[in-house]
Amino acid sequence: MSKLVLKQEILEQEQYILKCKNLLQKQFVHKNPVCYVHSYGCQGNVADGEKIKGMLSKMGYGFSDKAEGSDMVIFNTCAVREKAQNRVLGNLGMLIHYKDKNPNMIIGLCGCMVQQEHVANKIKKRFLGVNLVFGTHVLHKLPEMVYKILEGQKRVYDTTESDGVIAEGLPIVRDSKFKASVPISYGCNNFCTYCIVPYVRGRERSRDMDVVYNEVKDLVKSGCKEITLLGQNVNSYGNDLDSNVNFSKLLREINDIDGDFRIRFMTSHPKDATKELIDTMASCEKVCKHLHLPVQCGSDKILKAMNRKYNTKQYMEIVNYAREKMPNISFTSDIIVGFPGETYEDFKLTLELVKKVKYSSLFMFIYSPRKGTKAELMDDFIPKEEKSKWLMELIDCQNDISEMAHDEYVGNIEKVLFDDISKTNEGMLSGWTDSHLVVECKCDKIKVGEFADVLITKAHRMALIGELTTK
Ligand code: 5AD
Ligand code: SF4
Repeated sequence: MSKLVLKQEILEQEQYILKCKNLLQKQFVHKNPVCYVHSYGCQGNVADGEKIKGMLSKMGYGFSDKAEGSDMVIFNTCAVREKAQNRVLGNLGMLIHYKDKNPNMIIGLCGCMVQQEHVANKIKKRFLGVNLVFGTHVLHKLPEMVYKILEGQKRVYDTTESDGVIAEGLPIVRDSKFKASVPISYGCNNFCTYCIVPYVRGRERSRDMDVVYNEVKDLVKSGCKEITLLGQNVNSYGNDLDSNVNFSKLLREINDIDGDFRIRFMTSHPKDATKELIDTMASCEKVCKHLHLPVQCGSDKILKAMNRKYNTKQYMEIVNYAREKMPNISFTSDIIVGFPGETYEDFKLTLELVKKVKYSSLFMFIYSPRKGTKAELMDDFIPKEEKSKWLMELIDCQNDISEMAHDEYVGNIEKVLFDDISKTNEGMLSGWTDSHLVVECKCDKIKVGEFADVLITKAHRMALIGELTTK
């Protein structure tokens, strides 16, 4: 069966968008309806949130940056760790309170969290004020679901299980005009033993290369300066396609698009990070010299238990090869502390690896058991407090490394894409180097959304400080 949602089904949803628009125009005579969409978790989920906004915008909804006072609130949830789920449930409690004041408020929950059957059932039973619950595989049917609610149905639930589909042609309201995420694949086939993603996002499926290429080309034409190609494992892009494509080929094609923009990608599974990928990065001038290469752990025993399919020697080989080809490349990573069976000796191997690689920054997590995964059934003897201590030790170690890595930038001239006003240094803009470090700088003649060459004059642990050298 084709993974692509039929054009006919997308057209049907467009009809529902028009029907919703008509109903909303009748319901809201003196003002436009307003919606608050909040996406939790990874960039892939944020990209889904932009499609949700796209569909709602076509119905006539405007957008608010807060739930209070909105006519519709949608939480696009994450299930990767317990903490993320608890945050949603806490915020949901608050929403129900707002709904007491505005009983017509429509509350929707979607994304990975509700794709888990036990969570969807819990919401159904305990949160009667939630009108709309839809899983990751039916996102494109949002217009039909909203229509049912606007017609008076109290609750609409669709958490259909599926290996996953690809819905092309959905409208998108992007959060930024100059930085955009473009999914190149959905789902995951890797089944790392701790991870819920393959269960809630279905099997890995790649978007057609021409479709991705054209989306990037249009974004560049509209002035976009940074494109991030997204997938749970971008390195296996194309494995499921008949055509003879792979991620390196896609990168090269996108690199050839005319325009002043840069290309990032995530996530790169180390088991599929090939020399071809590194050579491609090195030879494509628009591809940022930054590799997010989640190692998860520095112990081969634990990597095996995690089903990561590489060992630390293979990981270091790819790191070293990349450094040889691109001496200025920076690495970032994800690390899980306290996986079942992990001892302090194993953890020390993680510290060692972190010191060897010298990541510019790290995302560090305490292992969170996820229902239905293999690791959930593994014996886990280390108490939470002990794991927290290990995490603190890792954070301290990485802080020292980040500081040293930042120091090395002083005196460099870096091309920076400014994307915000600095929150810590008044009168400065904040932006990102090619290697994905934050730079803050006084920018009289540069605006948010522009590139500039910056001389790095100071280094702090969290950011670099610089002066404009151009304009
Ligand atoms: N517990 C803790 N961290 C997890 N991650 C994924 N699943 C879990 C879990 N059960 C982390 C991994 C992954 C990142 C996105 O989230 O490090 O790379
Ligand atoms: Fe989860 Fe592993 Fe797939 Fe990443 S590669 S989404 S960690 S199963």
